[in-house]
Amino acid sequence: MLSNYASDEFQKYERIYEKELTKIEAGLNEVFKGMSPHSLYDPCLYAVTGGGKRIRPFMVLLSGAAAGGKYEHVFNTALSVELFHNFTLVHDDIMDNADKRRGRKTVHLKYGVSSAILSGDNLIAVAYKYLMKDVTSNHQYIFNLFTDAIIEVCEGQSLDTDFERKKNVSIDEYKLMIKKKTAILLELCCKLGSAVVGADQGTTEALGAYGHNIGMAFQIQDDLLDIFGDEKQFGKTVGRDLLEGKKTYLILKAIEKSDAKAKKMLNLFITNKGIKIDQISEFKEMYKRLGVIEDAEKEIKQYTALAFEALNSIKEAEAKNILIWLGTKLLTRNN
Ligand code: IPE
Ligand code: IPE
Ligand code: MG
Ligand code: MG
Ligand code: MG
Repeated sequence: MLSNYASDEFQKYERIYEKELTKIEAGLNEVFKGMSPHSLYDPCLYAVTGGGKRIRPFMVLLSGAAAGGKYEHVFNTALSVELFHNFTLVHDDIMDNADKRRGRKTVHLKYGVSSAILSGDNLIAVAYKYLMKDVTSNHQYIFNLFTDAIIEVCEGQSLDTDFERKKNVSIDEYKLMIKKKTAILLELCCKLGSAVVGADQGTTEALGAYGHNIGMAFQIQDDLLDIFGDEKQFGKTVGRDLLEGKKTYLILKAIEKSDAKAKKMLNLFITNKGIKIDQISEFKEMYKRLGVIEDAEKEIKQYTALAFEALNSIKEAEAKNILIWLGTKLLTRNN
């Protein structure tokens, strides 16, 4: 795949990402400038600043270019998906009792739960306003895509919490849940970039399939990083999924492959809907012993390969190469 590219091309793509990132950061800094009341807009600003990889807005830009447009045609669309993403994060952190995001206190810990709920609501409304700025045709199709994605993320998040209480969750059920909570937004980013520049349905679908598969890989990797990541780099408290009783890819695979010792631990995890902090290292050991890390890595690679395959019909060589570069870069991410 990417090994075919020369290393100076790699560096060129990295520089493009850095350059666009700077513009995205500047754009996000402007969104809530001079707005009042502060009780609403301070938490909104806090939520959208403070780092983040910005892969979703970057995917919008790349998809716009892959579909024959220019980055500037979809810049507001790029901001709108990042606002959407941050709306989901603010509410997700309340639902998951998370204390840390992007290396800082979560919004609800800093400003209180009520302010966090309201800020999240506001972020999604502002996201619509930004999308509106770029859309010049196909309004109905584009706004339906956006709205359906919000609905699907809510469904995914609901399944995620249902699964905390559900004893038996299959890998297929898990995959449906992560498709909805995570992959749909990456799919949306790619479809929007394409649709906003007026590309044909085939191009939009191909780019959407890329986003979907990258999204599936992305969530399985997030499950891995949640327990094996370095807290400083990852920016979130390590082991939270286990404390919260989340049915992650690793837990479900461990249940599938469990030996007698693991069965005992996993049964307790299920009945108690999670574990205590001092058991995290035991679970790490169990994951290693059962080989579920390798299973997760295999799935991540398979989804990434599917994502790249979906780009076969895309003619715009540079944008396509950067999409492949991005997918490859994500394989070794640590945050
Ligand atoms: C976190 O997304 C939520 C998931 C879907 C796992 P990111 O890992 O893209 O978070 P930021 O925006 O870079 O902080
Ligand atoms: C990501 O789920 C999905 C959404 C935020 C919608 P997680 O709960 O795993 O995300 P992180 O790990 O908190 O970022
Ligand atoms: Mg979470
Ligand atoms: Mg969650
Ligand atoms: Mg997670």
